[in-house]
Amino acid sequence: MNIAVIGTGYVGLVSGVCFSDLGNHVTCVDKLKEKVEMLQQGEVPIYEPGLKELIEKNSSAGRLKFTTDLPSAVKDADIVIMAVGTPSLPNGEADLSYIMEAAKEVAAAVNSYKVIVTKSTVPVGTNEKIGNLIRSYTTESFDIASVPEFLREGSAIRDTLNPDRIVIGTESQLAQDMLVKLHGPLTDNIIFTDVRSAEMIKYASNAFLATKISFINEIANICEKVGADVTRVAEGMGYDKRIGSSFLKAGIGYGGSCFPKDTQALIQIAGHVDYDFKLLKSVVDVNNDQRYNVIRKLESILEDLSGKTIAIWGLAFKPETDDVRDAPAFEIITSLLQRGAKVKAYDPIATANFKKIFDHPDVKYCKVAEEAAHDADALCVLTEWREFQEISLHDIQSWLKTPILIDGRNIFTEQELADTEFAYYSVGRPSMNKGVREQSPILSF
Ligand code: UDX
Repeated sequence: MNIAVIGTGYVGLVSGVCFSDLGNHVTCVDKLKEKVEMLQQGEVPIYEPGLKELIEKNSSAGRLKFTTDLPSAVKDADIVIMAVGTPSLPNGEADLSYIMEAAKEVAAAVNSYKVIVTKSTVPVGTNEKIGNLIRSYTTESFDIASVPEFLREGSAIRDTLNPDRIVIGTESQLAQDMLVKLHGPLTDNIIFTDVRSAEMIKYASNAFLATKISFINEIANICEKVGADVTRVAEGMGYDKRIGSSFLKAGIGYGGSCFPKDTQALIQIAGHVDYDFKLLKSVVDVNNDQRYNVIRKLESILEDLSGKTIAIWGLAFKPETDDVRDAPAFEIITSLLQRGAKVKAYDPIATANFKKIFDHPDVKYCKVAEEAAHDADALCVLTEWREFQEISLHDIQSWLKTPILIDGRNIFTEQELADTEFAYYSVGRPSMNKGVREQSPILSF
């Protein structure tokens, strides 16, 4: 089939490349000329394992093209996939201006029957609005469909090629058949719904995963006070099939391009129909506060952070990505600076992206992990990069001025810590706290 993908962000680019790998002819469209030129030369604007190789393979096979020429791509396509950004407006609502603009341009180019699919995450009812808008611009026949995307950054290709499910929301049998033909090679587990339910599935899924994370983070906070170990608690809970073991890793909270934006958007969607989504509001509050535990723990050991040098390992919102959108590191570093500390920061690949947004005289960006830790008063691990897990704690101890380690992602084990002198704080594992004032809690009921 001939596919046009509008928008070469994470979702658009990865989906387009994967559909071409399945043997379809895919044209990826973007307004940004420089980005398109980069992609035409085989350069990839984002870091995503395996993506560059797949672009090279399918471009040289003639199945994958990049262009700024939206009308030509749409005219040649059987299926048009819209995957442009829907960022947050200041009030938390999704900004639909890009997708509506794209829909107008698609409408102007439609020359024969097309299935027009939205993969961007959009509020319930948006696909219908898109349909009405396109109908007001063209008399050609078309159908709309919502096919939300569930890929994760860092494992985007694996997730796209091996999805847990594909959700197809459309009212048209022809569109459904064409979309089954496109997605059929990926999975047998295809769910057919109406358009509005498909739109809701995406928000509900992300909100539920965010809820799991905030839930386990609160359990971790309680574990710290009652002397239980959250990793064992999560393991014990996870064996219950009704709960499941994933997304129960306690840490400093979720970030990234989806969870923060989509939880806020769902709260707004509910608000528009006079529903107060209290649970999700709490999930967001818990998440916003969780990152400050790093500061609270540092202060419980160092007391005054003024004049101290704090090393930060990890600027990306999670490992295997250079994406820093809504990364907890922003608030943590801002808080450190507000308290008069200096920061030395290192990330294996996200430093350049972080520095573009956060350039400050008291933040030194380092080229290697050791440089950041060298002579620092404490080290905070904010992203669980494998590279950090592979560094010996003895080396880290020898680099730091004082052996203070705040492990925001629980990457170190009891054995690794055993013969070190660290004052160590992780998340929800009080039995591993070493050399800190607050030892085993005393419970009184
Ligand atoms: C997420 C969804 O998983 C994906 O389905 C959707 O399409 C986009 O949003 P992504 O943001 O790429 O994907 O990353 P994900 O692996 O889901 O992690 C999101 C955040 O949650 C990260 O900050 C991560 O550190 C955090 N997280 C995840 C936890 O703190 N604990 C966990 O157990 C899992």
